[in-house]
Amino acid sequence: MAEPVLLGVNIDHVATVRQARGAPEPDPAHAAVLAELAGADGITVHLRSDRRHIQDRDAQTLCAIVKTHLNVEMAATAEMLDIAVALKPHAVCLVPERPEEVTTEGGLDVAADLEHVRDHVQALHEADIDVTLFIDPDSRQVEAAAAADADQIEINTAAYAEATEQRDEDTAEQELARVAAVAADAVEQGLRVAAGHGLTYRNVGPVVAIDEIVELNIGHNIVARATMVGMEMAVREMKALLDR
Ligand code: PXP
Repeated sequence: MAEPVLLGVNIDHVATVRQARGAPEPDPAHAAVLAELAGADGITVHLRSDRRHIQDRDAQTLCAIVKTHLNVEMAATAEMLDIAVALKPHAVCLVPERPEEVTTEGGLDVAADLEHVRDHVQALHEADIDVTLFIDPDSRQVEAAAAADADQIEINTAAYAEATEQRDEDTAEQELARVAAVAADAVEQGLRVAAGHGLTYRNVGPVVAIDEIVELNIGHNIVARATMVGMEMAVREMKALLDR
């Protein structure tokens, strides 16, 4: 039997809830421990330049306590490179960032910015950090990722995921085929293959069936479900305190 796909749990939105209130809770470090106890193979956070959810202190704490594998997503900027070199997480995933976006939109255009990305990868390697490049399912970007000396690519599954949510089966099938083709390409070029973005309990199955993909990073849908499956217990605990 094939090895199971590794699960990286993205806990950004635990911090989103905290930041909405400026309160100390919920703490992403607490969520990371629980995710690991439940079997997560890794923890992922995106330290955005605008610090809208994860803060520098969260990243430092997570570096100290994550026992599995900590993957920090960041933009390929000088500020973030300094932070990564100081933090030394297991892995960094370089992503594009636009200040106005709600979440990461599209992959990194490695082909258009090869020299800059390659320099960044080299600097991260010198700090003993593995590097993933988040790219769209486009074979040109795979070639560029290999040329940039990345260890891994993460294929953006957003287009596939969006088609499944809209129940557009033809588009979903085409997008899934693109993901599969790019995954095969990447393995041929010696790259490890992860995927993620927009994956849900409903649409993850066909992605899991792509043998070349060894890791999935899933955030929003897991955090969303956690608020639901945890609601009953949370209310019961408060009700117990109101008993007199
Ligand atoms: N991979 C990357 C590179 C991302 O930027 C994100 C979102 O932060 C994810 C995976 C997870 O996406 P989602 O929250 O939709 O599961």
